[in-house]
Amino acid sequence: MKKQQFISDYTVYEDEKEMAACAPADAELLLQAHKATENSYVPYSKFHVGAAARLSNGVIVKGCNIENSAYPSGLCAERTALFAAQAQYPDVPVEAIAITAYSEITEVTEPVAPCGACRQVMVETEQRSHIPMRIICQGNTGKVFVFDGVETLMPFIFLTKFL
Ligand code: THU
Repeated sequence: MKKQQFISDYTVYEDEKEMAACAPADAELLLQAHKATENSYVPYSKFHVGAAARLSNGVIVKGCNIENSAYPSGLCAERTALFAAQAQYPDVPVEAIAITAYSEITEVTEPVAPCGACRQVMVETEQRSHIPMRIICQGNTGKVFVFDGVETLMPFIFLTKFL
């Protein structure tokens, strides 16, 4: 018997200004994610999430969370963006996705990380394209976290190779 560890590296920027100086394209993607929050439909949670996916052809596809009174019928911003990208550009890899949020109730000062279901969709998006997808997370303001590939966020992923 032995103990093992999984260790994940990620990059932390103090804010979007520091990011813009180091990684301007990703800072622009983050801005698009903030813009995407404007289209959210969130009468129940009042929590607006925006996502922006940059494809390898340079196109940016935005998504937002859309809720429903029959709760499971809603969808997170990340999956809205990734499914829209797949529907419109099925053969084009997703290089990066930015995720941001603001709440009508409280300040969101920490990066918002994708939920487990969205991570699982990210895994398969990556597997299809064979390119690691950068995941860029911020709240409404403050620090920005950047993960180089979904496996850094979700170790021991469910793999389709066994299906
Ligand atoms: N939400 C997202 O859009 N992305 C996530 O990764 C987590 C949660 C949405 C779903 C719901 O509309 C609201 O945030 C509150 O859970």
